[in-house]
Amino acid sequence: MSDTIIPTGLQLTVFDETFRNRPHEHFDALRAAEPVHQDRTLGRVALTRAVDVAAVLKDRSLSVDQDNAGPDSIVQKFRTEQDRSAPRSMLVLDDPDHARLRRLVSHAFNARAIEAMKPEVARIADELLDAVEGQDSFDLIEAFASPLPIIVIADMLGVDAADRGEFRRWSKGLANVFSPIRTPELLAGLKVNADELSAYFAHAIAARRVAPRGDLISALIAAEDGRDRLSGEEIVTMCNLLLLAGNLTTTDLIGNTVLALLANLEQRAKLLAEPGRVGDAVEETLRRDPPVMQSLRIPLADCDIGGVPVPAGSAITTFLMAASTDPALHADPLAYDIDRADKTHFAFGGGAHFCLGAPLARAEAAIGIERLLARFPALALAGKPIERNMSAAFNGVRELWVTPAA
Ligand code: HEM
Repeated sequence: MSDTIIPTGLQLTVFDETFRNRPHEHFDALRAAEPVHQDRTLGRVALTRAVDVAAVLKDRSLSVDQDNAGPDSIVQKFRTEQDRSAPRSMLVLDDPDHARLRRLVSHAFNARAIEAMKPEVARIADELLDAVEGQDSFDLIEAFASPLPIIVIADMLGVDAADRGEFRRWSKGLANVFSPIRTPELLAGLKVNADELSAYFAHAIAARRVAPRGDLISALIAAEDGRDRLSGEEIVTMCNLLLLAGNLTTTDLIGNTVLALLANLEQRAKLLAEPGRVGDAVEETLRRDPPVMQSLRIPLADCDIGGVPVPAGSAITTFLMAASTDPALHADPLAYDIDRADKTHFAFGGGAHFCLGAPLARAEAAIGIERLLARFPALALAGKPIERNMSAAFNGVRELWVTPAA
């Protein structure tokens, strides 16, 4: 018998101090001892090996529809009435509904559409940096990493300048969806926020039907596949999903990359010498310190993962960070090395639900960090304590205080 203590239950959540601050300690222990782990306390099967996570993500017979999860699973234990009755986005729908919705929106996020956004992303990044110019220190999350994706998506959607303040408030309010502590007050606040945001989108959709513009809301109204179109309610749900899936994640990608570069100054030096390699730094963060921790799949029939039987209705948690730092995949997997030749990672999931916004997220992070280091080449950590967010789904820091000048 080995003495290894296998982390399980709450130890694999943000309620655990080690998981929050040094998740690799738990992932390494689990991967070595029980890579397909039946967690009976919380009711899930936790995967930490790259081979299993890759296979599960690309298996299109598995469901993402939470209705298919068994009564003892983590999904049903923590699902509120509000969750059950909320309109469903494609993220939690199976085919054919998922394929239909994805087909109708995918062109708005293809490489050409994102290429066209790049000058605008650079302009927004520069404006945010203008605002901190001359300060002795600033919180990079509040001043830069958080507003950048919110302003970019507001621009893409066509939110009017006068509504930007409210839009930012709603976008930030959405983050509470991922709070692991769900008090009645929090749920009530979430409902008000969601209702206001949905009413705003419904109003914008009605206005664009009368007078279309060159923005994403107009494109979603016009999107056609044969005779199929998105309904007004589907467009509202889609817009909500874009904010929910795209804002905090991109904030965390920028924050985690800057933190890694400032904690590994030889890596920052490489980037300052060759700013064109910023994409390598972004990929290395996606691999070693990804914004999304986990993704869920539910088998509709009994199956087998790595020789372990997994019953129908199980909640399979693929730990994306654990898979991307599997020593079977990468040598010295915890080192942050922008020169790494093999950049394989699972940060954007895989298979049918592979992140639709990946080209946009990569562009925002690369342009944002390139502009930041060009403006402040001597950027350094200000020496304040760094705390991870208390979020069930995401991996990022609450604040990141930096000093722009040496
Ligand atoms: C799906 C990660 C940014 C829109 C996903 C999934 C992951 C992910 C892991 C798959 C979830 C699953 O398989 O269960 C990330 C990360 C991002 C990011 C790490 C930033 C670094 C964005 C952005 C947008 C976006 C900027 C759009 C504005 C979506 C959508 C889906 C998705 C719509 C659902 C796709 C589907 O169900 O077919 N993302 N995302 N994401 N993401 Fe992202």
